[in-house]
Amino acid sequence: MNEEDLLKKQYTLYPYPPIPVGEMEDEVLYSSNYEFVNYICTKKYKSPENIKILDAGCGTGYSTMKLASQNPSAEIIAVDISQSSLDIAKERLQKANLYSDRIKFYNADIENLSSFLNQKFNYIVSSGVIHHLKNPERGLSNLKNLLADDGILHLMVYSEYGRYTLKLFRKLIDLVRKDKNDFEEGIKVGKELLNILPESHIIKYDYLKSYNSYLSKFGKNFADSDIQFVDAYLNARETSYDIDKLFEVLERHELKLIRFLDEAVRSKEFIFLKSPFLTDYIKDLDKKEIYKISEILYPERNFAFFCSHKSLEINNQSYDKLKKFKLPKFNKKSNNMVMSATGKGIQLLGMYKYIYEEIEKENDFETTCQNVSYKFYCDLNTSKKIITNFIKDMDDCDLIFIL
Ligand SMILES: C[S@@+](CC[C@H](N)C(=O)[O-])C[C@H]1O[C@@H](n2cnc3c(N)ncnc32)[C@H](O)[C@@H]1O
Repeated sequence: MNEEDLLKKQYTLYPYPPIPVGEMEDEVLYSSNYEFVNYICTKKYKSPENIKILDAGCGTGYSTMKLASQNPSAEIIAVDISQSSLDIAKERLQKANLYSDRIKFYNADIENLSSFLNQKFNYIVSSGVIHHLKNPERGLSNLKNLLADDGILHLMVYSEYGRYTLKLFRKLIDLVRKDKNDFEEGIKVGKELLNILPESHIIKYDYLKSYNSYLSKFGKNFADSDIQFVDAYLNARETSYDIDKLFEVLERHELKLIRFLDEAVRSKEFIFLKSPFLTDYIKDLDKKEIYKISEILYPERNFAFFCSHKSLEINNQSYDKLKKFKLPKFNKKSNNMVMSATGKGIQLLGMYKYIYEEIEKENDFETTCQNVSYKFYCDLNTSKKIITNFIKDMDDCDLIFIL
């Protein structure tokens, strides 16, 4: 069987992700809220009314469900080459009461997009997809052509170094299995190999680390599922990227990398925090060099990032800009949270909450300083410092508010 057919067979027999319909409806997936994404990317507010979103390679529609719930007035198109995945995706949205005329599913190949997609999208999400294409750059080029001038493209691709051990395991299974077209055999062989490996073995260690992370994020059924195993260790086709290759590809397609989803851990500040000694050595390095250090220091299996056309303008944060910024409303789970760039929600408490409320009232900087001084019994200079830090956090650390 050729790779193309095998990939289709894989995602037809093992539709991904294996999250049962009706489950995880209330989880917040930050990257699915356009208002939020646009804000962390551009530091500018843009209304989410009448936007168009494309979920390219939507799989079983977990991301489509999140996009639909977080962007209640958006028109959403979701495409995939696996009909069984699309069927589950539609069922998932119906079950969550999110399926309506504004949501369309198509069985389509993002390498060969037909003319029904002759429109531009404000937000394109393609998570875990282009690295499976025969020609990932053709897919990327198609997505870029569908991106509005001020649109944001959110990609997740496999990372070269973070998958080093995973690749060893894939290789080991391939050396032992007899029929590469037989996923069931691959699962049996793979699981048996895991059984004979001691926990100290690099492959077993890496497997368990990833298993435990799925366990805590999605539960035991997900972590144990054959679908997850096939996607990770028996995938019919995949490629991966290191930072240099990623930059080269984006550059070839005239795309600008705006930021990683977990930008904070890929920053100088994060390295400084861990080691003041290294500050002097890395303080003059540019962003790309820092990303290259981080990909080795903190290897992850994937790179999740946002990019745009080169011309997209990006603001810096300031008190006045923040004042004008209308807060994104996260549907469902909503309880005064801020989110760090690492994707963790932080409860918005105390002084920061108060400062934010002051800004929301559209008070000017001086008034907010005075109010903070009265409220927290500190002198004006101290309150100024605190508020300035707060603005800096909004900028550097990407704290963002989830109401
Ligand atoms: C790992 S899954 C990711 C699913 C989903 N994006 C997510 O993050 O949960 C990869 C998906 O890409 C789809 N896919 C692979 N090649 C494709 C292509 N050429 N065009 C459209 N979808 C494709 C597969 O069928 C599969 O559903």
